[in-house]
Amino acid sequence: MKIPLASLGLRPKDIHAAQLVLNSGQLTMGSRVDEFEQAMAKYLGVKYFVMVNSGSSANLAIFEALLRPSIGKPILNIGDGVLVPAVAWPTTIWPIIQLGLTPIFVDVDLDNLAINLKLAQEIIDMDKNTKAIFPIHPLGYSIDPDVLNNFCEKNNLIQISDVCESLGSWRGNIHAGINGLASSFSFYFSHHITTMEGGGVATNDLNIADDIRAIRSHGWSRDRSDVNEWSNNNKAGLLTQNISKNQSKFQFITTGYNIRPMEIQAAIGIEQLKDLDSFVLRRRYIAKSVKDSLEKTVFEVIDGGTLNNKETENHHSWMLIPIRVNKILTHPKRIQIDELLEKFEIESRPVLTGNFLNQPAMLKLKNIPAASNFPCAQSVSDNYFMVGAHHDLTDEQIDYLCAKLKLIAESI
Ligand SMILES: Cc1ncc(COP(=O)(O)O)c(C=O)c1O
Repeated sequence: MKIPLASLGLRPKDIHAAQLVLNSGQLTMGSRVDEFEQAMAKYLGVKYFVMVNSGSSANLAIFEALLRPSIGKPILNIGDGVLVPAVAWPTTIWPIIQLGLTPIFVDVDLDNLAINLKLAQEIIDMDKNTKAIFPIHPLGYSIDPDVLNNFCEKNNLIQISDVCESLGSWRGNIHAGINGLASSFSFYFSHHITTMEGGGVATNDLNIADDIRAIRSHGWSRDRSDVNEWSNNNKAGLLTQNISKNQSKFQFITTGYNIRPMEIQAAIGIEQLKDLDSFVLRRRYIAKSVKDSLEKTVFEVIDGGTLNNKETENHHSWMLIPIRVNKILTHPKRIQIDELLEKFEIESRPVLTGNFLNQPAMLKLKNIPAASNFPCAQSVSDNYFMVGAHHDLTDEQIDYLCAKLKLIAESI
């Protein structure tokens, strides 16, 4: 029996919604994107959600908006330090580097795999260049918003969050990662909902929402809420000549990209979002089943303490299931685990990228700290792996996954 890390996730009603788009005559960004954005904003409890073509693009657009806003002073400036976890996804880090900011890596907390704020504090106390924090809410785990808010307030930091792995994760009535200036989401097909490829930015700040709308479409003003003010009133005092209504459609007010989503993605997203809560419940059931079956073995499901009781279990929405091997793992033993997983057709993978400082692309960059400075991230590389928690897994697959993982844990 095969246990994949993810499944396509498209149901007949999603495919039907996509077919309607193909026959509708409106394929590029339009009313379905609007509808999906409103549904996402309502679900997350934020004022604005701006859809883009991927979670990676959402991250890029956020930093572009903070560095080069169309109105007012930049919120971040070239060279500013941004705290990031040492276990990260590449496109959490790349926009920071690509746009001239400075990533400041912080080791992770081994019990929830999120950025370790105690270590972050030590860094801030020494490095006065730190202006922002960009934590990942890892694999479905929601970092406590009060702790994050207090940390940012105390240190006067801009808070932005990468929530690409944690849609559907709540602390009480606060969704993971939405308390800062902006946060990014991904709807890549292995995630909690799929739009095939897709992502977006959540924010309560109208200027940021409008700037992301401009940034995703070449930098033009026409999708902004204040488009008329730009053409009629010369909003930022930047126009050098009067322009006609037609000319104003080609008014470029920020630096930008083409990272727009398509209608077909939004149409699927609208259907998927309606069932997100049931997807998350199923994922949590899978994680709990795996955790229970591995009790008293050397495999430990890393749940950030969330699965212990009813009050904390919705702090996690389980994109995948990270497992720590509580044993000194020699290289041959690690290979043995991989081989057994493969033999039982259980797909597995490292936790994100493991210690990101070890990645070849990082080793080529200048002024990057040594990977050995991040012992916890290194231990994530060496002693952790992940298996799937996709809501499409059947009961038989879940039983099989639990039984075989237990067998492997007991045999190494
Ligand atoms: C933490 C994190 N950030 C960003 C992304 C990028 O999302 P996408 O694949 O939609 O570009 C991912 C992808 O899974 C991720 O895990």
